[in-house]
Amino acid sequence: MKGMNHRRFNRLLASALIGALLLVLIACAPKGGDAQGGQEQTSGPKTTVAAEPTIAKDAAGVWTAEAWKDIYPHEYETYMQNAMNTTEGNAANPHFAVRGDMVKMYPMLPVIWAGTAFNKFYNEPNGHNYSLDDIRVTGRVWDAEKGAFKETAFANCLTCKSADFTALYQQQGNAIFSQPIADINALLNEPISCYNCHENNLASDATASSVTATQTFFKTALGSDAGKVDAGSQSCGQCHNEYYFAPADKAVTNPYTGLAQMTPEAMYDYYKTAGKDGTPFVDYTNPNTGTQQLKTQHPEFEFVFGGAGSTMVQRGYGCVECHMGQPQTAEDGTIYTSHLLISPLENEELLATCNTGAGCHTDLKAQVKAWQKTSEDKVMAIGTKLETLNLKLADAVAQGTLSEAQLAEARELNREAQWYWDFVMVENSEGAHNPKLSTDTLAKSEAAVDKALTYF
Ligand code: HEC
Ligand code: HEC
Ligand code: HEC
Repeated sequence: MKGMNHRRFNRLLASALIGALLLVLIACAPKGGDAQGGQEQTSGPKTTVAAEPTIAKDAAGVWTAEAWKDIYPHEYETYMQNAMNTTEGNAANPHFAVRGDMVKMYPMLPVIWAGTAFNKFYNEPNGHNYSLDDIRVTGRVWDAEKGAFKETAFANCLTCKSADFTALYQQQGNAIFSQPIADINALLNEPISCYNCHENNLASDATASSVTATQTFFKTALGSDAGKVDAGSQSCGQCHNEYYFAPADKAVTNPYTGLAQMTPEAMYDYYKTAGKDGTPFVDYTNPNTGTQQLKTQHPEFEFVFGGAGSTMVQRGYGCVECHMGQPQTAEDGTIYTSHLLISPLENEELLATCNTGAGCHTDLKAQVKAWQKTSEDKVMAIGTKLETLNLKLADAVAQGTLSEAQLAEARELNREAQWYWDFVMVENSEGAHNPKLSTDTLAKSEAAVDKALTYF
């Protein structure tokens, strides 16, 4: 079974059984019979048969989660359980603790991210059900005093937050990204939901083969490597990735084509010529230091699949195996995939299959916590150095103590050190996805910040 992990094997086995069962069902079904089944079954796994929802598509052309409620009750229910993952925290599952304010958790952020609204408004994420609510209130795009969206924000900020946005993007193409955010926001009602990963295909396909990446920019960025990544991981990676807004049309764009270029070094190089007319791309200029900075987003996909891929990817695992767990059997015998996206550390069933010793893990939870501690301790230590660098550089700019040439070099090192630091800091697994990449990337950041500090 080389190259195939346990879970995939289970699923293949399940679908083989389901396939056999379907053949029997089809053979026995009365002509013109009810597609939803209604057959008496005494044993063996059941499956759901695809059907069109009775509720109409919404104005953007999307069948909402609500529309699938009766057709796929198990997927719908578990999808809705992501609402546990909320800002207020949830006693039912301690993993979904109160969502932290990153600006308080990382005290260097106000200084080193000055010039971007992330230095004031940056919270830990919630579950998918809240994506649209959360983007509408963050101070990065919404001006609470004026009671209006900021003029600096465009519709591109809504890209990974709504099934309706995705459908409109598919219809209108890149032109949608530079529209006023208020105009497009008014058209959106559905947060991240079924359409984002299945389009409307669930009406004719009740299986995992209906899973797809719907964001065109990400499919372009995967290029000919798309065949090397399973559809489930693509469906997550289409949003959990590093991107920038292309200067010409504000289109969401990934800084690479193909897996080999999805490394922090290759992306740093890419950005050197991704600005207007081949100049360096600049996310924002720090007003105190004058450094033209880059701001990494949430490079989960690149951390897991970039370059040669994490050790677990090399063993055949993807986002689905770790965050959706093993196939589940409902009380009525239906086999389905849980759509509650949880940490593998909270999934006891999954942990039991991991902690087998013998080449696998013995205590995965402890091991992951240790990786995360190593990564977070380094993030804090280097972040503090970056803060010192920013303060010294700002002072030198104000006092005029460095020559233009020295300033240019110190700023370049500042940009580089922050890029590599950000790349680990904003990635949501805290180093767990790829401990080696985390260590190597932080070492690059530290080398650059240490060198910059020698100027003072
Ligand atoms: C974030 C992406 C994502 C969203 C949102 C999503 N799905 Fe899925 N869905 C998946 C993936 C990935 C699989 C395949 C899992 C696997 O590989 O076994 C899947 C599988 C399925 C299947 C095949 C049977 C099964 O359970 O494995 C059905 C049916 C399904 N989803 C229905 C839904 C419905 C209904 C919704 C909305 C209420 C929804 N999905 C929302 C990603 C998603
Ligand atoms: C359409 C874009 C989109 C897709 C597709 C998507 N995500 Fe997300 N995901 C987000 C956004 C945006 C948030 C943050 C939502 C918020 O804070 O309101 C998020 C949050 C999460 C969280 C919660 C993070 C935390 O720290 O609590 C997890 C876990 C997660 N996603 C996993 C996945 C997995 C696994 C898949 C694929 C099966 C996936 N996502 C597909 C956009 C997406
Ligand atoms: C080999 C298993 C594995 C794979 C593959 C994997 N993850 Fe994770 N992921 C983890 C672990 C472990 C954590 C840390 C969980 C914790 O801190 O409790 C994590 C954390 C996360 C988080 C933060 C939310 C949380 O619950 O802490 C997000 C978001 C996420 N992963 C998304 C993804 C996406 C998207 C992919 C695919 C591109 C992916 N993961 C692939 C194991 C995995």
